[in-house]
Amino acid sequence: MSDVHQQRRAAVLAKLPSNSIAIVVGYQQKVRSKNIKYHFRQDNDFLYLTGFAEPDAVAVLEKESGRYHLFCRPKDPAQETSFGTRAGIEGAKLQFGADNAYAIDELEKTLPSLINNCDHLYISDELGRFDQHLIKWCRHQRHHSGFDIPKRYTTITPLASIIHPMRVVKGPDELAHIRSAVTASIAGHNAVMRACKPGINERELAALFDFTIAQHGCNEVAYPNIVAGGNNACCLHYEDNCSPLQQGQMLLIDAGGEYQHYAADITRSYPVNGQFSAAQKSIYSIVLSALDAAIAMVKPGTPWHQLYDTCMQVMAEGLLNIGLLEGDLDEIMAKESYKRFTVHKTGHWLGMDVHDVGPYHDSDGKWRTLSQGMVFTIEPGIYIPTDALDVPVEYRGMGIRIEDDILVTDEGHENLSKSLPRTVAEIESLMNPL
Ligand code: GLY
Ligand code: MN
Ligand code: MN
Repeated sequence: MSDVHQQRRAAVLAKLPSNSIAIVVGYQQKVRSKNIKYHFRQDNDFLYLTGFAEPDAVAVLEKESGRYHLFCRPKDPAQETSFGTRAGIEGAKLQFGADNAYAIDELEKTLPSLINNCDHLYISDELGRFDQHLIKWCRHQRHHSGFDIPKRYTTITPLASIIHPMRVVKGPDELAHIRSAVTASIAGHNAVMRACKPGINERELAALFDFTIAQHGCNEVAYPNIVAGGNNACCLHYEDNCSPLQQGQMLLIDAGGEYQHYAADITRSYPVNGQFSAAQKSIYSIVLSALDAAIAMVKPGTPWHQLYDTCMQVMAEGLLNIGLLEGDLDEIMAKESYKRFTVHKTGHWLGMDVHDVGPYHDSDGKWRTLSQGMVFTIEPGIYIPTDALDVPVEYRGMGIRIEDDILVTDEGHENLSKSLPRTVAEIESLMNPL
């Protein structure tokens, strides 16, 4: 039984008003084709509070009594022979600490009586599985309260408003899992960087990444690998991974393993043949300078948006210096004309979700400031597609992004993915062993 999940449930309940109940809905398995299902991955809010990774489960937390109810699939020998073991009703109590456990089929019958005496209903139901039921349950509460008891008109509030801010600051066990995901992903990227050469197919490198992170304890990737040669890298979420790599191209690989439900998210860009051309080196150096300038700003108290602003300032200056932007730097910054090449935002929280949950603004609408225990990516990029015909030809057909995973420490930061080669010299030396 896990203390950490019990502590999180208690922390959630402590933040709810009197007479509240929280319903936390897990995911169901999705069909891939006919009777074949996709590999199951639990909802992260549900996992965060329960650690229960089986499909088709619902947790209910009662504020006043502190009771934890878990609805799940009952034991079923035939189903378990086909698809694997289940904790079952007893396991939900013994292994997962539920005070009461029920078969999931009992939910509709049991839940209305659980919410009968509550004033506030909080719900986490990402896919809206019970949207239609909520009103029914609340109506049941109204119609079934006693004749001389005030009718309760329950409020319904997303539980995300409580859980997601909690998930932004990572605890020690979470940091350990993120570190393991990053370590495995560094090994994966290293293997791909060594194997990369003209003629190899993007899909071979994607498979090599998967194989290597598996050797380091990851069961799966945190998001589909992006292995993009040449112009393919100008599609930000390119996932086809099916082209042969060519002499003279850059490769962009954005790939991260998932370890115990925690993600890494790392990008490297390098020449397919291991040797930067002058044009590739100049764009790469601009992106790396932007990343390093933003990382240098990370410490408690820095406003989140300052990282993006810093990246844009450095990249605009760099693009102006090499002639890809024209005019006056102040005017470029004011008109944001750099956005043509820089395209996207430069980072996001990292945790159970690769684009992890949690607010980027305070309640007054200002950008949030960083604090110890936050983990996020910084990932500036410059993208110059082949059809940018006004740009000199040597720059066309490349997307360069560099992405590191950063932890805010008490006084500054730690770049968790720093040991993966990132300077021109480090990359060329790894790709061209003596
Ligand atoms: N791998 C997705 C991202 O970098 O945001
Ligand atoms: Mn990212
Ligand atoms: Mn990424």
